[in-house]
Amino acid sequence: MSNEDGSSRLEISNRNKELIREVFELEADGHKDAREIFKEEILGFLIQTDDGSFTLSSGERNDQSETLHSTFGARTEAFEKFVIPSKLLEKADTNNVIKVLDICSGIGYNVSALLDYLKDSDVEIEIDMVESSLETVATTLFIPDVCESHRYVKKAIETYLIERGCLHYNKVLSTIPDNVTINIHIGDARDFIKNCDDKEYDAVFLDPFSPAKSPELYTVDFFTRIKEFLTPTALILTYTAASPVRSAFVDAGLYVGEGPRFHRSGGTIASRTPDLIEVPLSFGDVKVISLSDVGIPFIDPFLTDDYLTIIERRQNQRRKSRCVTTFPSSNKLPRYLGLNPEDIEDEALCNKLNAYVQKMGFESINDERIINMLNIEPGLTSRDQILCLRENLRKLLKN
Ligand SMILES: C[S@@+](CC[C@H](N)C(=O)[O-])C[C@H]1O[C@@H](n2cnc3c(N)ncnc32)[C@H](O)[C@@H]1O
Repeated sequence: MSNEDGSSRLEISNRNKELIREVFELEADGHKDAREIFKEEILGFLIQTDDGSFTLSSGERNDQSETLHSTFGARTEAFEKFVIPSKLLEKADTNNVIKVLDICSGIGYNVSALLDYLKDSDVEIEIDMVESSLETVATTLFIPDVCESHRYVKKAIETYLIERGCLHYNKVLSTIPDNVTINIHIGDARDFIKNCDDKEYDAVFLDPFSPAKSPELYTVDFFTRIKEFLTPTALILTYTAASPVRSAFVDAGLYVGEGPRFHRSGGTIASRTPDLIEVPLSFGDVKVISLSDVGIPFIDPFLTDDYLTIIERRQNQRRKSRCVTTFPSSNKLPRYLGLNPEDIEDEALCNKLNAYVQKMGFESINDERIINMLNIEPGLTSRDQILCLRENLRKLLKN
């Protein structure tokens, strides 16, 4: 499924986009009330989430769509998964300026939550919002206000759309505080990150659709580039706990840890500095990432491939590696490696797990060689555990 611009990015529905373009056309024709005319119809796309804030649905991919936010609370998710764990409130006490990269800014909830959170801080705030869909950004103007800060985001969007000739009337009644700069960038986040040279960020909010839908924004290559723009104390925050995302962070040279939980399970925090990771990954997760095919990350060497190419590349690598250079991820096998089979109550499962490893030449899931492989130095960071287990596995399967 391609978008009008020929790309395969997942964005809001085409009908939602069409309506926004009709608003643009009517304003261009001098209709001051174009936004009022289309308001009801555009509001029809909004889905109210459990905390009263709103979300939208994406277009379909493989007959499925995703919402832009957690339906358990879009605004709450912005605070819990991105803003609070970013530690920017503490940084606001010591820094003169705080710079944030908001990847996949959608309808600006992460940014408005951030501004709300920092509203009493005496600090300059500079935000780069990057979103591929102009129409999604424009839809923000129709979303009921969730807080004063959301009006600042709307004002920045309206100004941007007027400067770009898409809109023609100033209708958002708000003034962005002098200490806040919101820059809007419309385009693929990969192009933004490829072309920005002298940037430095104190936090990166990474909020694409799920890795299966938007793999281009979870690749080793994308994270490697982002890493260049992180201050030593910066954190990358994302809501997904998916193994290929975590292993891509590791391959990009970053330290990783558990992000806060909020309904959509888990989350991940990454940083250039190990001490900033407060909650390490569980050893079960580390085993899955380092020892099985599910830990194979997405790759996009030139930051240009479409989502299917990226998905298929990884699928091929998984197929080739399974039972050859990695354990299969089936039935969560890696989590059971090293356990005494007698401790697994489900006998059928236990037989299956043993059968997998027997195919690879081991006696059982607690084969002595497997136990030795799992025996790594205590106290390592999650990143170093992953690197160490991968190396142990490589040596084990070579013999
Ligand atoms: C989960 S939503 C983000 C919600 C948003 N953070 C907010 O606070 O409202 C994902 C967004 O990513 C955008 N998107 C999809 N692919 C993209 C890409 N390659 N580059 C930039 N944005 C992209 C979609 O249009 C969508 O608005």
